[in-house]
Amino acid sequence: MGKLTKLTVSLGDRSYPIYIGSDLLLDIPKYLSSTDIGKKLMILTNPLLKKLYGQALLNAFESQGGWAVQLLSLPLEEKNKDLRTVEMIYEQLAKNNFDRSSSILALGGGVIGDVAGYAAAAYLRGINFFQVPTTLLAQVDSSVGGKTGVNIPEGKNLVGAFYQPKAVFIDVSTLNTLPVRELRCGLAEVVKYGVIRDKPLFELLEKKAEDLYDSPPAFKEFELKDMIVRCCGIKAAIVSKDEKEKGVRAILNYGHTVGHALEKASKHAYTHGDAVSLGMMAAAYIAEEMRLITKETVNRQREVLKNFGLPVRLPRNISLKTILTYMRRDKKIKDGVVRFVLPVRLGNVKIFAKINNAQITTALKRLSGEKG
Ligand code: NAD
Ligand code: GLY
Repeated sequence: MGKLTKLTVSLGDRSYPIYIGSDLLLDIPKYLSSTDIGKKLMILTNPLLKKLYGQALLNAFESQGGWAVQLLSLPLEEKNKDLRTVEMIYEQLAKNNFDRSSSILALGGGVIGDVAGYAAAAYLRGINFFQVPTTLLAQVDSSVGGKTGVNIPEGKNLVGAFYQPKAVFIDVSTLNTLPVRELRCGLAEVVKYGVIRDKPLFELLEKKAEDLYDSPPAFKEFELKDMIVRCCGIKAAIVSKDEKEKGVRAILNYGHTVGHALEKASKHAYTHGDAVSLGMMAAAYIAEEMRLITKETVNRQREVLKNFGLPVRLPRNISLKTILTYMRRDKKIKDGVVRFVLPVRLGNVKIFAKINNAQITTALKRLSGEKG
């Protein structure tokens, strides 16, 4: 493959590489041919991505020779990220005699990655799994770390497994076709990494926010690649220390406690990125109320999110009561206590368990413009 950055998620004999570069998609078959995995593989994708990248990847496997590759294109979206879809994948794997040396390769955003990973985790009790993320959100977050799963009517991602990929291939060039709305979702997660662990990244985002939002082509590949490398570096280090979120991994959920509640309260009218943006503002307001950070830090976070076109104010038609109800159903609640990841300065956060309702309500009121 061409000029690539290689990072590693270190998990003993389940360690794996993350390759990040431009135009690397069609080199994947050559790379996989040099490993000892079986030569039977399913590419899981959707009709749009099949047309943009999937067919070309299938052709590249065929040109490489020796491979039996099946391209399964399903109209996969959040609304059918479910067990029925996983069952359809199992039917295809079984009908085509996939065995324990076979693989699933996820070509797409976080939805396809999460479903493919969960299918791979349980088919024959686990087959090889590769991530080829094509959204910014998936490239900086969901493709790394092995959280896989599906939704059930009772809630999002409630059924899943920690199941690590064998490798992650991040082709930054695939972002050229990504709509701005989806780019923004990923940028919310990039801001998250700046606040939780990387102040210089946050400062870079402050400088770049306006250009990048006004003119997506101004996302020069080298800058984007640098951001992705930094985010994946932080995630790889955290997952290497705490694969199953017993401790430090929880800081990756900055902005997600209120964010997930908002996704549900708005019936998914908010994208994940929009909801995380508002969730990070709520967390920053709580931190300011607790005198952990200054008003100036809160304003800096608000400006950078605003300049990326992300929402920083809650519309009044979402009731605070509904948000609080959904927050109490958060997956990360321990012994009934909602835990918050709060900034203590730019580039550093801590987990707080005892935030009282008054502090949360004040923060949500500020978010809806009622105070402050
Ligand atoms: P997504 O997978 O729904 O993709 C968004 C849209 O972008 C889709 O319509 C897709 O067809 C399109 N698309 C993808 N790549 C494209 C490209 N290169 N060009 C043009 N269009 C393209 O959304 P997402 O934001 O990537 O992922 C959201 C999902 O990720 C949620 O289900 C969330 O729960 C999950 N997630 C998982 C983790 C994790 O750690 N496993 C972390 C964060 C989010
Ligand atoms: N997206 C949060 C995590 O992977 O832990």
